[in-house]
Amino acid sequence: METKRVIVDGTENLAFDEAVALLKAGEVVAFPTETVYGLGGIATDDDAVSKIYGAKGRPSDNPLIVHIGSFEQLDRYVEDLSEKAKACMKAFWPGPLTVICKVKPGTLSTKVTAGLDTVGIRMPNHPVALRLLRQLDEPVAAPSANTSGKPSPTEGIHVEEDLKSRIPLILDGGATGIGVESTVIDLTLETPTILRPGGITKEMFEQLIGPVNEPTHIEQKAGAPKAPGMKYTHYAPNAPVYQIQCDEQLVQEAITDLRAKGNKIALLAPDAFQQLGADWFFTFGDGSHEQMAAHLYDALRSCNSTNADIVLATVTDRSGVGSAIMNRLEKSAGGHWYQK
Ligand code: TXA
Ligand code: MG
Repeated sequence: METKRVIVDGTENLAFDEAVALLKAGEVVAFPTETVYGLGGIATDDDAVSKIYGAKGRPSDNPLIVHIGSFEQLDRYVEDLSEKAKACMKAFWPGPLTVICKVKPGTLSTKVTAGLDTVGIRMPNHPVALRLLRQLDEPVAAPSANTSGKPSPTEGIHVEEDLKSRIPLILDGGATGIGVESTVIDLTLETPTILRPGGITKEMFEQLIGPVNEPTHIEQKAGAPKAPGMKYTHYAPNAPVYQIQCDEQLVQEAITDLRAKGNKIALLAPDAFQQLGADWFFTFGDGSHEQMAAHLYDALRSCNSTNADIVLATVTDRSGVGSAIMNRLEKSAGGHWYQK
């Protein structure tokens, strides 16, 4: 299959017409959201949903997020919405928030929910995604548009790297804004629980709806996985990743030490660390949470175009979006830290 990548900024009617026609014909299409690129198919169509799992090589017990373009669509697919759920949707949609709700039986493909009685719903805040969803007026199941296990795509070209010749169309809206996936919160539980941290933070929820649980990656691993996707390896480049404190002297010592043992090193760190002379350097921008989130997946992905033996990545604190960044970084490192 030939894969077309079309540059869009929200005004090219033809690209949207083509995407809508492909989706209505049961095909899959990649599109940008404000978090990462998604690989979409109509969520009521079993065959389209099967194509999503097939193109990504994704395990079929890992349910997909359903994207909608308007509040009117919501009631068609979910029931028993709590007041807290409504408040969160009203405050944070469109935006980087996925709400786990009770699914209305018989409305969505059971392949989307992987047999659960709940579904994750989100209204993305990106002009291309919103325009596509509104023109289509159907719910769109869309996981991140990467090969399963790889870092999520934050640019159209990343989608092409992973899915070329497996999907017909990529709507390329340039780099996504936030860079890490949406926050997933389960609002069917007695105490709302964050299953995956993201751009909407614990602090932001608590201001609105009171206490919210946020188990760490390690705590989630110890219990039964609530978000089935959390048990799979994620975001990992080919070479092993080691976390390291964001300290120039420590990183310099690590580079010297690892090199003496015969390793080639890729360093992922803020701009100021570039002069430390790692074999490859991929930036976290100025090191702020905002820039680190925006650069993280591109940096991890770039490691695969090197022959580094080891990847060192500097960490950040867990306040605000730091929680989402550290969740992804810990997973890409399999929990490992650099040790002398
Ligand atoms: O930002 C995002 O959310 C991106 C863009 C494309 O919207 N999408 C995305 O989808 O990250 P995906 O499929 O890569 O991640 C979905 C996560 C998985 O961890 C999955 O297990 C969890 O949400 N999830 C989906 N439905 C669920 C459900 N009913 N109950 C619990 N977890 C669920
Ligand atoms: Mg994903």
